[in-house]
Amino acid sequence: MQNHMDYKTDVLIIGTGVAGLYCALNLREDFQILMITKESMRDSNTYLAQGGISTALNKEDIPCFIKDTLKAGGYKNNISSVQILCTESRENINTLLDWGLPLDKKQGGLAYTREGAHSINRIVHCSDSTGKTLEECLIKKVQSHKNITIFENTEFVDILVEDNCCIGGIAIKEGKPFIIIAKVVVLACGGIGGLFKNTTNQSTVTGDGIAIAIKNNIKLKDLSYIQFHPTALYEENINSRRFLISESLRGEGAKLYNSKGQRFVKELLPRNVVAKAIYKEIRTSGIPYVMLDFSFQPEDYIKQRFPLIYEECKKRGLDITKEAIPVSPAQHYFMGGIEVDLFSRTSMNNLYAVGETACTGVHGNNRLASNSLLEGIVFSKKAASDINTQVDLIKASCLKDFPDIIHDLKEIQKNMKNLVIKELLRRSKEFHAEFFNH
Ligand code: SIN
Repeated sequence: MQNHMDYKTDVLIIGTGVAGLYCALNLREDFQILMITKESMRDSNTYLAQGGISTALNKEDIPCFIKDTLKAGGYKNNISSVQILCTESRENINTLLDWGLPLDKKQGGLAYTREGAHSINRIVHCSDSTGKTLEECLIKKVQSHKNITIFENTEFVDILVEDNCCIGGIAIKEGKPFIIIAKVVVLACGGIGGLFKNTTNQSTVTGDGIAIAIKNNIKLKDLSYIQFHPTALYEENINSRRFLISESLRGEGAKLYNSKGQRFVKELLPRNVVAKAIYKEIRTSGIPYVMLDFSFQPEDYIKQRFPLIYEECKKRGLDITKEAIPVSPAQHYFMGGIEVDLFSRTSMNNLYAVGETACTGVHGNNRLASNSLLEGIVFSKKAASDINTQVDLIKASCLKDFPDIIHDLKEIQKNMKNLVIKELLRRSKEFHAEFFNH
């Protein structure tokens, strides 16, 4: 006998960042969709994204955008997914504009900024809070859809599997486990930043999708490809998330200086190159940061273009309109993840993975700046288009008791983080146990 509430739905989506929300919004409206998120809907890495969303300016820019993405990715990228990302970028930005995303404008058109390793200005943005504005726009739209239900403060613990088919999952809300039977499950639960001591990510993002994949023998890819952002704000004795200083600040001209007041790297080289140059300076000088200066720009412009960074620095006693600020690298993004094909299908039937949880191979070994929100958008739409044609062919499983799983739940939950850390350590020579929050 079951003594808990159970659910049946067409599509179950884990995670409410850009990939989960955009997927839900591109699914057929005759589906019942259940979205689950660990804490509040807004506790996603999307919400923290500052810089913007890359897009090809027009058809002529697509080859150059592809070239920039491949070069930044060390040519380790999956070329087909890069072609899709760049070719389909513009139409998705147009969809977001139609849905009311208030992208910044300039002289009647969109305002484009630049970040590392882009050959031209091709990043659209909402000042320096692009992720938050995007997330609010998508949340508003999702909430207006009667067929989409969202459970907050609900932890997804595992998928349910029958004959290599995902048939739903198991979650915990207010300490009570429950089962969700679904025709399709979409893992959109973000990356792994919360496992690191030094990260720009939300602490809730702890590789849950990766843990589930390890447990269930779902194929993973490129687990050693972990990106460090060069410029997180340096604060002494900080034990929580590092505040990001967007690369778009460097895109708009901010300069890096070492402890001798000298420039030491071209600020708009790919992220991995700039981060390595900063680490080298830190090692040589023994000072745990370098300085980033934007104060030569007019005060009004800084406050209007980078209001979030200005305010957050001010709270910490730093005025970016008047002085250089200390920065150092921090874990930022996971290029690896659950291996998926061009429609975001994993190696398990009826299970999809999108956003940072997935590895489409699009980023190679180093993601090009502002390609993450874009990937979440383009490939979650691909997943939705595939699900839209597949769901009618899938027969839903029956609700039944899963006593063993319910029984082992506490143990599974406890081990999820360690499972991922162990696998990351096994697959990468560069990481050591002390990097992680065990
Ligand atoms: C940033 O604003 O520097 C981060 C953007 C990104 O991660 O691509």
